[in-house]
Amino acid sequence: MAFRWLNGGVTNEVYTPLTLPPKKKGMARYGVIGSPIAHSLSPVMQLAGWEKLGVQAEYFRIEIPAGGLEGAVPQLLRAGLDGWNCTLPHKGEMFRFSEVRSPSALQAQSVNTVQVIQGKIHGSSTDAEGWSRAMREIWPDSVPPKRTLLLGCGGVGQTIARFLASIGCTTLTLINRDSQRAEKLYGELTQLGGNRFPLHVLDWNMPNLRLALSESDLLIQATSLGLKDEDPLPIPIELLNPPLQVYDTIYRKGETSLVRVARQRGCQAEDGLGMLLHQGALSLEIWSGQPAPLSTMRQALYQAAGRDL
Ligand SMILES: NC(=O)c1ccc[n+]([C@@H]2O[C@H](COP(=O)([O-])OP(=O)(O)OC[C@H]3O[C@@H](n4cnc5c(N)ncnc54)[C@H](OP(=O)(O)O)[C@@H]3O)[C@@H](O)[C@H]2O)c1
Repeated sequence: MAFRWLNGGVTNEVYTPLTLPPKKKGMARYGVIGSPIAHSLSPVMQLAGWEKLGVQAEYFRIEIPAGGLEGAVPQLLRAGLDGWNCTLPHKGEMFRFSEVRSPSALQAQSVNTVQVIQGKIHGSSTDAEGWSRAMREIWPDSVPPKRTLLLGCGGVGQTIARFLASIGCTTLTLINRDSQRAEKLYGELTQLGGNRFPLHVLDWNMPNLRLALSESDLLIQATSLGLKDEDPLPIPIELLNPPLQVYDTIYRKGETSLVRVARQRGCQAEDGLGMLLHQGALSLEIWSGQPAPLSTMRQALYQAAGRDL
């Protein structure tokens, strides 16, 4: 069954804070801010959720360029938004703009969910819990993870790493293209409690990838490699061997190249669509104060992404 919001209920229109239409009386108003934002599947999933909850709500894609938050936040407030999701490149900066920070935001040092309460910006991060729920759904015993290689120490990699430092895992190895970024995270995790389990940091090269993967049960792919068709695989095919489990935080229509080749090699592998679903469902719970209608949101999201349920 096709959802109404796929048949014209949700357009692909992209707004700026200044081109948003006047707020409709009695409608809750949300959106997702980022750059680029045209591809975002969040409106489909969030509108499905609000409709199932019986709440009249709007949810817009709002393009805000990097560095543009300072001017944009007052405009979003004036446009009557009750909250918004933040995606690349705004999560770190939104943390700094949040007047009230939830424990999840403080742990992640990043904000992907804003709730406006009496004109004040309350920031939370649902990324780590969304990742954790997605992992447990596909691999029930996978959180806390066993021996883990985290490839990519950008925003999402740091958020997952800080979460792992709080819940623990058997071992955690960090590898990032820019080794200084990985070293910085390593230092921070050591302070956060990463010394409760063996924590390693390695430079990104073939011998280190081979070594780290040979000693890992789980690979978390948290670089942006795989978003574009022309991107190389982040890991050489021959290093992907069962029983390694591969979680690619990237999602796109169809499977990512990493997930495809990992499965061809006999590894269990999943992409980040489940993480997107669960972080979005947690955002809706923050805004609505009600349990999210997960199966409705999943059906809408997976249908929009061209996936089977
Ligand atoms: N599934 C979900 O719900 C969800 C949520 C958030 C993000 N994501 C995905 O996660 C990806 C990363 O997001 P982010 O917020 O962490 O972005 P980010 O802060 O810009 O970090 C990008 C990461 O990718 C690495 N990278 C970029 N180009 C590379 C290349 N050519 N070779 C090797 N490494 C490269 C960067 O390494 P350097 O430090 O060396 O630049 C950095 O580790 C996004 O593309 C997004 O699709 C998914």
